[in-house]
Amino acid sequence: MGFDLASLLSQHGDDGARLHAEHLNAQVPRLLRTVGFDRVYERADGARLVDREGRSYLDFLAGFGVFGVGRNHPGIREALRQVLDAALADMVQLDTPVLPGLLARELVARAPGLDRVYFTNSGAEAVEAALKFARRATGRGRILYWDHAYHGLTAGSLSVNGSRDFRRGFGPLLPDTRLPVGDLAALRRQLRRGGVAALLVEPIQGKGVYLPPPGFLAEAQRLLHEHGALLICDEVQTGVGRTGRFFCYEHEGVRPDIATVAKALSGGFVPVGATLAKQWIFDRVYSSLDRVFVHASTFAGNALAMAAGLATLAVMDDEGLVENAERAGRALMDGLAAMADRYDFIADVRGRGLMIGIEFGRPRNRRRAASWDVLRIVRRGLFAQLIVQPLFSEHRILTQVAADRTPVVKLLPPLTIGDEEVAEFLTAFEDVMRRAHAPGGVLGDLGRSVIVQAVRR
Ligand SMILES: Cc1ncc(COP(=O)(O)O)c(C=O)c1O
Repeated sequence: MGFDLASLLSQHGDDGARLHAEHLNAQVPRLLRTVGFDRVYERADGARLVDREGRSYLDFLAGFGVFGVGRNHPGIREALRQVLDAALADMVQLDTPVLPGLLARELVARAPGLDRVYFTNSGAEAVEAALKFARRATGRGRILYWDHAYHGLTAGSLSVNGSRDFRRGFGPLLPDTRLPVGDLAALRRQLRRGGVAALLVEPIQGKGVYLPPPGFLAEAQRLLHEHGALLICDEVQTGVGRTGRFFCYEHEGVRPDIATVAKALSGGFVPVGATLAKQWIFDRVYSSLDRVFVHASTFAGNALAMAAGLATLAVMDDEGLVENAERAGRALMDGLAAMADRYDFIADVRGRGLMIGIEFGRPRNRRRAASWDVLRIVRRGLFAQLIVQPLFSEHRILTQVAADRTPVVKLLPPLTIGDEEVAEFLTAFEDVMRRAHAPGGVLGDLGRSVIVQAVRR
């Protein structure tokens, strides 16, 4: 018998963790068990996941930002069905199909100053293209990037990763230069040294939810251009409406030379990314007939991916999701900021739209400060795990620690959430904070199991 999804799922529905342990990255099921996130999800709709026991979860992770339009959006499903039913002549390769043209036109219409599009199959690939395009266009080799940066894990994108943990053991990588986030003097020094092709930045960093200081990007772009270098904005996570603008760089009043998108453009179904750049950059990369395929990829621009992208943009417009991200994000930030006055573990609430970081810090209260110190000795950033865990196990809300060893919880819900989901999250978060705040809270029932797990790890 051929492929039969229903019978595969009914026969093997519980085998996922075992199969991963046997045939894939065995550390994944191990980690999920350790942190108590080992569930089998069966269905999903919008911002909700449902597990095999029929329990519903509020998804404030959105597949690391993939589900901007929510899960299983009917508009995207219908678009993909139409493509399958049309039996198109896809990926002929030696042709000029219309769907990539239409999606490229839609993307550049949302990105004044950027003229052309190169499609990819992932975020990392979009970054790879950006790095190569910047080098070719400027004839220089050096890419500057920031502490904490995350741009993917292929060899090129790993070379501009701001975390030692990701890089260790994979070298030698490309020559690189890391800068402190938002440090204009460091940027100036590196530009004076020469050979800089570009500065690559996430307008809000995914790891830790760090924002550049106000005005930094505009001044950085001025300096870069003065030295003949480019500004690349990696919008793989922040783009497609996440921050309440289609591109996050719009908040900063800059127009980068190159921008990348991916994740949410997929509508949550078909991997797709894009590298947008200025005309003159494309002219230098694809400068002659001989160089027509000098940067290309077999699957890029396939019909399902393009339809997913076009349908996603249509849904975003029809449902006003960019505006909703700003509105719902404001409601979440206001609610969290009010809690920061009541719970002294909350050191900072930051972000834009529906990309929010809640940073925890050493409380003013002496008893709570002592608990904080104990947790920090066990493992830096453990406090955030202590918040994420009860949010999941008791309130059934899926969130994440923003980066390893970082005391920041990150919220990245679908852009479709409304008042109900905002209220549900704030009520749950307040409950967890209240318990952490109470005498014995952090090192009592909340903390004990997490500490035991951390020590075991
Ligand atoms: C800003 C940014 N760039 C690039 C990437 C890499 O994308 P992908 O995982 O699709 O390769 C990510 C993924 O999280 C990202 O957040």
